[in-house]
Amino acid sequence: METDPNILKSEAARAALDLVEDGMKLGIGTGSTAEAFVQLLAERVARGLKIVGVPTSERTAIVCGQNGVPLTTLDETPELDLTIDGADEIGPDLTLIKGGGGALLREKIVAAASQRMIVIADESKIVEALGRFPLPIEVNPFGLRATMMAIEKVAQNLGMSCKIALREAGGSPFVTDGGHLIVDASFGRIPEPRPLAVALNAIPGVVEHGLFVGLAGSAIVAGRSGVRTLDAKAGRN
Ligand code: A5P
Repeated sequence: METDPNILKSEAARAALDLVEDGMKLGIGTGSTAEAFVQLLAERVARGLKIVGVPTSERTAIVCGQNGVPLTTLDETPELDLTIDGADEIGPDLTLIKGGGGALLREKIVAAASQRMIVIADESKIVEALGRFPLPIEVNPFGLRATMMAIEKVAQNLGMSCKIALREAGGSPFVTDGGHLIVDASFGRIPEPRPLAVALNAIPGVVEHGLFVGLAGSAIVAGRSGVRTLDAKAGRN
C-alpha cells in the first residue's frame, strides 16, 4: 500500500506512458508529476520510441533537454495528439485548478491545441469542490491594482469572496515565462467553476486563469489502492 506522494506521481506517470504511441506529437506539462513523466518518457525514447514534445514551460524544456526528449514548438507543430500534465486540484467532471508552478497560460494553450489532455496526479489532488488551492490568475503588470479589484468584484457578483495575493519569488514579484505576473485568489470553495472562468476571462487585465473547464478528457490518479482512470462525462467544448 504505497503512500509516498513521489512514488504515486511516478505510478500515475507510468500509466500515462502506456498511452503514448510511436509517432505522437505530445504536449508535456509542468510540475513535479510532469517531470516524473519526462523521466520515464526519456527512458522509452532512449529505447527507440519516436515522439516529439511541446514543453509547457521553460523549466520543462530544460528537463526534456537534459533527458534527451526531442522537442518542437507549438508554432512548428500546432496540432498535438496528446498532452500529459499535472494539476493542483481535480474537481467534479475533471474541472481543474492549475498554475501552482506558474505555467498555466502555456499549459492551457498547449492543452487546447491537443486532441486529448490527460491529467496525472496522486490522489491528494482529488477534491469534492475546487477552491481550497488558491486559484492562480496570470495578469498583465499594467494596472495591477485595478485588475485585482476587478477580480474581487467578479467574485462578489458570483456570491463569493476571495483574498488575493501577488505571487512573489525571492522577495520580488514572480514573473511568468510570458513576462506577466500571477495573483493567487483564495476562494475557499468554487461551487461553479464555469461562470467564474468566463467572468475572469472578461477582465481586460487578466491574461488567463488556472481554471481548466472542459479540457481534461481523463485523469490517471495513483493512490493507496492502486492506479485508476477517471473520465470526464462531458466531452471537450
Ligand atoms: C504548473 O503550473 C501547474 O499547473 C502544475 O501542473 C501543478 O502545479 C501540479 O504540479 P505538481 O505535479 O508538482 O503537483
